[in-house]
Amino acid sequence: MEVVEILVLAHRGYSHIYPENTMLAFRKALEAGADGIETDVQVTKDGVLVLIHDDDVSRVSDGTGRIKDLTYEELLKFDFGIKKGPQFKGEKIPTLQELLNLVKDKDILLNIEIKYGSFLYEGIEEKTYRMVKENGLMDKVIFSSFNHYSCHDLKEIDRDCKTGILYSDGIYKPYKYAEELPADAIHPYRLLVSRQIVDACHRRNIKVNVWTVDDFKEAKMLMDMGVDCIMTNKPKEMMEFLGVGKH
Ligand code: G3P
Ligand code: MG
Repeated sequence: MEVVEILVLAHRGYSHIYPENTMLAFRKALEAGADGIETDVQVTKDGVLVLIHDDDVSRVSDGTGRIKDLTYEELLKFDFGIKKGPQFKGEKIPTLQELLNLVKDKDILLNIEIKYGSFLYEGIEEKTYRMVKENGLMDKVIFSSFNHYSCHDLKEIDRDCKTGILYSDGIYKPYKYAEELPADAIHPYRLLVSRQIVDACHRRNIKVNVWTVDDFKEAKMLMDMGVDCIMTNKPKEMMEFLGVGKH
């Protein structure tokens, strides 16, 4: 029987130590040997795909305002490292293109979470999809979203692109829901996983990718349950504890 190891994805990059969703955090995740990276994509006022979790820049930068109201050039004036520590001063907001350039030649999985906040970014699914496609990276990418219409729309654009449904509240029989949508994976909050759900997903060829797991013993339990992937802010420490990966 083929033994498939659990994948460890760096959530927002190696964000435990480095400023989240920055090129530094992404580079450090890869240097640490992470199997992949999870990141969040949003759209600036002038239509640039940038990587940031919140729809407002104030928590992670020295600027203020919302992504949808700021141009990329305006965003470049803000420092996205300094809030994590003075040693990270000078980090800029990354674009999706910059991250794609970084992972292009690497054998990794990239999970691009399509964000929506108090509003929807019109056309974000198609725009993100096109960029990945034009870079020839479809085989490395899984798209995910809490907005399951985004997952559905991506499959309408290209039935073969990989999607995962994110959820933070219990979905009844998520494997049936994922099958119907359709989606290739479920992305449940870490407390919403059971062996029964994992087995039911696998019988349907649906992956189980869990977030955000920073507790090592919990990760071991999830690994023993057979989940396919965990997303963690501590990729290096997690791989060392689990004894997996390329570290
Ligand atoms: O994609 C997994 C996880 O990132 C979802 O939640 O809020 O951290 O983007 P959030
Ligand atoms: Mg995310």
